[in-house]
Amino acid sequence: MLEVLRSIPEMVQRAYALPRPCLDISGPEGVVVLGMGGSAIGGDLLQSWMVEKRGPPVFVNRDYDLPAFVGPKHIVFAVSYSGNTEETISALEQAVRRGCRPVTISSGGALEKMSGPGLHIKLPSGFQPRSAVPLMLLPMLGVVEDLGLAMCGAEVNEAVELLKALIPELGPERPEGENQAKRIALGLHKSFPMVLSGPFLAPVAKRWRTQLNENSKVLAREDTLPEMDHNDLVAWSEDPMAKMCGVVLLRDSREHARVAKRMELTRRLGLHRARFLEEVSSRGEGALARLLTALTVGDFASFYLAVLRGVDPTPVNVIERLKRELAG
Ligand code: F6R
Repeated sequence: MLEVLRSIPEMVQRAYALPRPCLDISGPEGVVVLGMGGSAIGGDLLQSWMVEKRGPPVFVNRDYDLPAFVGPKHIVFAVSYSGNTEETISALEQAVRRGCRPVTISSGGALEKMSGPGLHIKLPSGFQPRSAVPLMLLPMLGVVEDLGLAMCGAEVNEAVELLKALIPELGPERPEGENQAKRIALGLHKSFPMVLSGPFLAPVAKRWRTQLNENSKVLAREDTLPEMDHNDLVAWSEDPMAKMCGVVLLRDSREHARVAKRMELTRRLGLHRARFLEEVSSRGEGALARLLTALTVGDFASFYLAVLRGVDPTPVNVIERLKRELAG
């Protein structure tokens, strides 16, 4: 897992260079990403990215069924690292029946076999699906860029450079005083982790939560401002459980000024009751660098929390078991 984490910048570069289909679709109504778990989060990142780039709407479908609005005017990506996730396969079948020409992204499996001619993006094998997020995200950005909907080339270069600078800061050689990921893992150890952010970094907060679930094997939760100021804040200010929580607050240089103000107030009126709180700032100018730098700190923090808990970050045995039992 550590080696895979260290290779994130190279993975971004490699994924952007993967051969990808050139779609024949004009004036698309939107983008739909079919996927689950580690293969769906790239869709959420694409959604945040696209909002900032003022591109078409992105909808992430984590279900067997497709909503009625999806049709041939949508760009559809069916993403499953294994290629065998049943919800994704079912939604893909429905998309094809409706006349969509989905781009499939997998390392093999049923998805590859079901793909239309020239519409498959083949991923290198040997990763845990959740570790392959850059491999699944970058080809989608590339397809969207090739259609002229939003440009990402310069952003990829910036992201790679900033990630290359960030990785040594998070590596095991760096002592905890100078290593934010280690500090956060220590702070979250034996507390209930809560990862909070504004709307742009919401998919990154979700990614932190799912990496804490799957790598560190702990329960965790994510929430978003300004929404949480209208409900969750009450509990933060009154619930005795707040003292058992460890908070990671994801900050972004382009967050709305009122969200920034709310973060300060939310800290003062509620979050200060947590037993640990640390802010993590995204880095860079472009949306991609900001998303991926904030995400990478979380990937390393969840790895160190696994080490502190004495668990292997890589396997997710119960997910495999559930899939076997579903298969009957
Ligand atoms: C495992 C992981 C899971 C899988 C999910 C879907 O590392 O993160 O969330 O991503 O079970 O499987 P795939 O990605 O093969 O479609």
